[in-house]
Amino acid sequence: MKDYLTVGADLGNDAFKIIGPTKREFCILNISAPWHARRVVNDDTRNPLNLLEVEILSSGQNLGRYFVGKMAYNFNRGIIKERTVADRHKGKAKDLQTRIVLLTAIAVSLLKPNCKQIKEEIILGTMLPTEEYFANQQDNINILRNSLLGTHKVKFLNPIFNGVEVEFDILEVDIQPEGLCALNALMYDEEGEIIQQVASRFGEKMILGLDIGSLTSDVTVLDNLEPRTFFGIDRGTIDPANRILDYIKTEYKVSIPRHKVDSVIIGDGNLLCYGKEIPEFNQICRQYIEQEGRQLIEEFISKATAAGIQLPDISGLILYGGGSLLYKDIIKELLEPVPLLFAENPIMLNALGAWKNARILSKRFVKNSDSVEKEEFSLLSLR
Ligand SMILES: Nc1ncnc2c1ncn2[C@@H]1O[C@H](COP(=O)(O)OP(=O)(O)OP(=O)(O)O)[C@@H](O)[C@H]1O
Ligand SMILES: [Mg+2]
Repeated sequence: MKDYLTVGADLGNDAFKIIGPTKREFCILNISAPWHARRVVNDDTRNPLNLLEVEILSSGQNLGRYFVGKMAYNFNRGIIKERTVADRHKGKAKDLQTRIVLLTAIAVSLLKPNCKQIKEEIILGTMLPTEEYFANQQDNINILRNSLLGTHKVKFLNPIFNGVEVEFDILEVDIQPEGLCALNALMYDEEGEIIQQVASRFGEKMILGLDIGSLTSDVTVLDNLEPRTFFGIDRGTIDPANRILDYIKTEYKVSIPRHKVDSVIIGDGNLLCYGKEIPEFNQICRQYIEQEGRQLIEEFISKATAAGIQLPDISGLILYGGGSLLYKDIIKELLEPVPLLFAENPIMLNALGAWKNARILSKRFVKNSDSVEKEEFSLLSLR
């Protein structure tokens, strides 16, 4: 039986996390902008991922030319498509920008050295935010799947890519609720077998996954390692970032891009404004992070209670997503003595789970057959 290439993709509001067929990891900012001819003599070519300018053909339709990721951030001429709080209720399944960034990111993961015409067939594992996944009798799953199945072609326009074109056929797509993918990554090995240490530690018990992203957070409840329920929370790391932006706007009358504030709060905490450091900026950021983190955890507790889960019922709360790093202190302060487990690779974990899901699916996939023997939660329903 043929071994298909598998790709795992986490369509993050902040950044797309991709695991390619060789298990290589990529992170691409979820920003796109219309392409234009630039007046740049020498590009900084140190990181080709910052030079994504592409033309995309998808299922026979020309989607146009775009800057994607960091390049869109640098060369958008004011027309930037990035996800903001207003997009919390605007799904990803129907969203053209999501498709543009995703197809570009998949093409990046399929690049090979010294190969100008690349043609592949892939099986994709991906996800939707919990609330979007379960909305409208789960219609969004089919909408996303149908927009992805088929042949796509991405032409890389920046000279550093030497005219490379990547054509790929997505043969089948596995879609799960966002936070569940990460739990699958932790619970199952690459063959879809449960990891024995996990089974002996958490079998018979209730464990929760809390994925804190930039716009949304997703909770997955497992009982005896089987999904019991799911819920989403409309909060994430964008909230403190926006509060900090408002503060700077009010106090200093300057507007700063959100991604800049984001990189400052996760970096050294210094922000220069007209060459001067903002006094006590670090401390101000910490206050907003704490305040927003507190609200997120309070909402988590109240939604868990509404789902019939009291904190003492929880034998393990597994934390992942970039927000698990940003809010670590406040999470510990508010949730201990719940046993907290902070994932080691929290940002890539969903993508890794999606990659494993795709791998399992690829083993059961038979080309030109409509019936992939697939149940709803492929990995978890393997047994
Ligand atoms: N090292 C770090 N320390 C603290 N915070 C971090 C760190 N790295 C990333 N973050 C935060 O995590 C956020 C991104 O998290 P993540 O990648 O999980 O979001 P996402 O998956 O793109 O969003 P969503 O889940 O809403 O779709 C960043 O905006 C940043 O605030
Ligand atoms: Mg996420």
